[in-house]
Amino acid sequence: MDRLKVGLLGATGLVGQVFVSLLSRHPWFDLVALSASHQKSGRSYGEVVSWIVERCLPEDVAELRLLNLDPNEFSGVDIIFSALPSDIASHIEPKFAEEGFTVISNSSNLRLDPDIPLIVPEVNPEHLALIKIQRRWRGRIVKNPNCSTAILTMTLKPLMEHGLRRAFVTTLQAVSGAGFAGVPSLAITDNVIPHIPREEDKLSKEPRKILGTLTNSGVREADISIAATTTRVPTRHGHLESVLVELSEELSEEELAECFSRFKGPPQDLSLPTAPANPIVVRRKVDRPQPLLDRTEGGGMSVSVGRISRLGWHGRWYRYVALGHNLVRGAAGNAVLIAELLSYIGNSDSRPF
Ligand SMILES: NC(=O)c1ccc[n+]([C@@H]2O[C@H](COP(=O)([O-])OP(=O)(O)OC[C@H]3O[C@@H](n4cnc5c(N)ncnc54)[C@H](OP(=O)(O)O)[C@@H]3O)[C@@H](O)[C@H]2O)c1
Repeated sequence: MDRLKVGLLGATGLVGQVFVSLLSRHPWFDLVALSASHQKSGRSYGEVVSWIVERCLPEDVAELRLLNLDPNEFSGVDIIFSALPSDIASHIEPKFAEEGFTVISNSSNLRLDPDIPLIVPEVNPEHLALIKIQRRWRGRIVKNPNCSTAILTMTLKPLMEHGLRRAFVTTLQAVSGAGFAGVPSLAITDNVIPHIPREEDKLSKEPRKILGTLTNSGVREADISIAATTTRVPTRHGHLESVLVELSEELSEEELAECFSRFKGPPQDLSLPTAPANPIVVRRKVDRPQPLLDRTEGGGMSVSVGRISRLGWHGRWYRYVALGHNLVRGAAGNAVLIAELLSYIGNSDSRPF
């Protein structure tokens, strides 16, 4: 595999910092170009970033000068990762795509547009074929889902073959999900906020597209109903999700646990560098998963599932609790895995999925 040059927009934010951490030690990609807001252009990354991710700031990246958000300044770059706020991304990302760049984006704009692949690599890699019908720009835009959606769909995908009909999800989302300047400490310390703007809408709509079927004319949405309640809690990283699902098939709790444990996708088959060995890790202890203990499983790319039980209601209802790292599986790590998949396809004569 030839090494590729990659650039990063929104490099100083929380998602941006996790991108820097993942890309600075990546076996296929070289991080060569960064930008943040206009005021920081021209200064070195190390000088302006308030680095808070667990690993040390890589020295070679610290020396890079921040560029203006101008596609001309990124010439020679093969892939652009974007961690921009949605309002900025909505006019900047198309400019990069117009200039021929491949943009892999974390922002929420465009996610539900019919020609935009919205990808969790283990769940719907085949939807990358939508790139072929994306003709509005010379380049292309691929989207990461909402962070809670990425975690949820990893667990809903193996349930599709058992007749998933409905899901009710309540999230307990970490503070880092709101970005660097996110929630004021006085609002969240000793508190739970039972509303996250626009989050419930994303969580009920995006999985229907991600779990949908690719047809010649686009994606036919999955016929499932999802109701979401989203809350912000005072954990640093890791979104916990309490999920109730109705299936058409009857499964024992053990069969459901096996169905989660067995789940794998093309990233595992292809041994992509950022793919976790186990996309879903089943936790058997009754008090797991916990954000503090389980969010870094698989380098933050695995989703932990526990509390699996069948409810004694009419119908086939099951309960489980899922946990994923919002900045890794829910953002930067998922995007890097998408880039690995695109690079693999670009270098391969065969269709891997
Ligand atoms: N946090 C999560 O868990 C998460 C998960 C999934 C998706 N996302 C999405 O990922 C994106 C980034 O999230 P985040 O949490 O990293 O946000 P963040 O911490 O607020 O970072 C935002 C980044 O965008 C830059 N920026 C802000 N305004 C800009 C402007 N006018 N021009 C150019 N750059 C600008 C900031 O640069 P400065 O430092 O110079 O201000 C910073 O680098 C958002 O779209 C968010 O919805 C976040």
